[in-house]
Amino acid sequence: METFVYCNPTTLHFGRNSLNGLSNVLHQYGKRVLLVYGKGSIRQNGLYDEVMDNLKHVQAEVFEYEGIRPNPVIEDVEAAAALGRKNNVDVILAVGGGSVIDSAKIISITIPVTHPAWDFISRKAKPEKAVPVICILTLAATGTEMNPFAVISKKDANFKDGYGSPLMYPAHSFLDPQLTVTVPRNYTAYGIADLIAHCFEGWFGAGEATLGDRFILSIVQEAMKYGPMLLGDLGNFELREKIMYAATMALNGLTMQGKKSGDWAVHGIGHILSLLYDIPHGASLSIVYPAWMKYIETKYPDRIGALGSGLFNKDLTAHESIWRIEEMFRSLECPVRLSQTGIQGISKQKILELLVINKVSGANYKLNEEDLRKIVELFL
Ligand code: NZQ
Ligand code: ZN
Repeated sequence: METFVYCNPTTLHFGRNSLNGLSNVLHQYGKRVLLVYGKGSIRQNGLYDEVMDNLKHVQAEVFEYEGIRPNPVIEDVEAAAALGRKNNVDVILAVGGGSVIDSAKIISITIPVTHPAWDFISRKAKPEKAVPVICILTLAATGTEMNPFAVISKKDANFKDGYGSPLMYPAHSFLDPQLTVTVPRNYTAYGIADLIAHCFEGWFGAGEATLGDRFILSIVQEAMKYGPMLLGDLGNFELREKIMYAATMALNGLTMQGKKSGDWAVHGIGHILSLLYDIPHGASLSIVYPAWMKYIETKYPDRIGALGSGLFNKDLTAHESIWRIEEMFRSLECPVRLSQTGIQGISKQKILELLVINKVSGANYKLNEEDLRKIVELFL
């Protein structure tokens, strides 16, 4: 195992009615609040009113930035940061899924500076301060509620990728599974695929950490068991609860301690599909993972076989494991080929071009241009 320091400073408030503790927490951070949210779901399901009641209760002065879109873009981050800076906000309250929370994290490091947020993402500048972020999570998927990462797109730079800073851990995250019952069937499924993919990225990462591997198998098995049940019963609180907790644990550091890194090639490829065709994140991963595994099958059969055998409690070869894993994504109603998304005008050449521009490769299993070309062929 590698030596490591593990400090996760996010306070998690988990479970039914956990929002009851919100005003107490808000109270500790000051009265000037930047409220950031998406394109309407929180207005439709009544959460907006509940949040506003809490803010009124602490006599907050609220500045709102509405309209963060899925696969969020840097332009919204810059505009929201300008609003926060102008009004000298004390705290950011992010209400939504990964796109809203990721945007809030970059907004939090951009408010204290005068240069564009892009300078951080392009590694021209390093953050030194951040406005605290409090999250109310409404979609179980990314793990952003308890990690220091954010993923952002800049379309004119052909860019979608992650950025991380210890300053970007949320101070508090509120996770009431009831808030996720309105997530539609497709996004519920993509969220489950995403949490599984986070576990896989850890599994295929560099270094050896057997306890981390056991955490990974347990989290994926939880998702394999309860994910399909949830798709058959979207309003079931207990199933929402299981998936929400699994998603947080899948990417909050737990599975990666003692390893050098995760692999992240599949995420890198998935980000390019989302950038080009606006594919929801989890769907991009269920498309790329089987193809990536098929491509590396002969090079790393042991690691793939061990994953399949561990997940399915059966002695499986790498080949059998891949087919079972692909079948698992299918059973979660997620696409496993790009053609299944119904997107028109897909260009193999364009995908490859952006993969190369963005220098997509794995941290552990390195990919060159020829490798990428073959993987693309496998998922079309
Ligand atoms: O915009 P609104 O109206 O909120 O609607 C959203 C959006 O249309 C809707 N939604 C969210 N909660 C809902 C709901 N609809 C009904 N009821 C609710 N309770 O769902 C749609 C998708 O939301 P989004 O936030 O985009 O989804 P997700 O949570 O999957 O986040 C995806 C983003 O996170 C990044 C992805 O790349 C992508 O940009 N990731 C962030 C990571 C991180 N920070 O650690 C890691 C991940 O690997 C991932 O890359
Ligand atoms: Zn992901």
